[in-house]
Amino acid sequence: MKGKFITFEGSEGCGKSTQSKLLAAHLQRKGFSVVYVREPGGTRISEKIRKILLDPENRLMSEACEMLLYMAARAQIVKEIVRPALLSGKIVICDRFLDSTLAYQGYGLGVDTGLIRQIGGFATAGLKPDLTIFLDLPVKKGLVHRKFTKDRIERRPLGYHVKVRNGYLKLIRLEPRRIKLVKVEKDLKNTQEKIRGLVDKYVI
Ligand code: TMP
Repeated sequence: MKGKFITFEGSEGCGKSTQSKLLAAHLQRKGFSVVYVREPGGTRISEKIRKILLDPENRLMSEACEMLLYMAARAQIVKEIVRPALLSGKIVICDRFLDSTLAYQGYGLGVDTGLIRQIGGFATAGLKPDLTIFLDLPVKKGLVHRKFTKDRIERRPLGYHVKVRNGYLKLIRLEPRRIKLVKVEKDLKNTQEKIRGLVDKYVI
């Protein structure tokens, strides 16, 4: 693959979308060709799946259904956008990827992580990020940043979100070369500086 694949991960309200968009703009200013996407979503089909996943009315959704819908949305965006962009040498920045499913459905809900990796391998045809930035913020702080109308996942209790964060910390221990932890600073610019410091090494 000619391009570079950078993903952002983090718990609720960690400022991931803001930071990933700032990074995309920074790389574009440097002259790189950048594609920015988010998960679940990013294609017509995946955005429809996102609506189903986050709709608070879907209280009866099973764990298996939830995990498979995240994978379905991912399969589509990888085929339609991510892989073609990487093949043509672009930098793809993706707000969330397979690590989210391992953290939220695996460590958070208790779905078997081996199975998630297996189905993830099928959904992405083995595509892995070159670099993953995990933005770390204490769970309670992140949850208060969230908007007033919470989606189906955000509504889950504090204990669930703590399990998700601990899950991410396990993933970092498993793959310390790929996943880099960046502590969220009060000043947005300081966090962005740390991210750029890590990313610049990978893209040059
Ligand atoms: P967002 O708030 O970052 O846009 O993500 C939407 C929600 O979906 C968020 O609560 C995290 C959750 N999520 C999962 O539970 N599993 C996944 O695989 C992904 C990509 C997101």
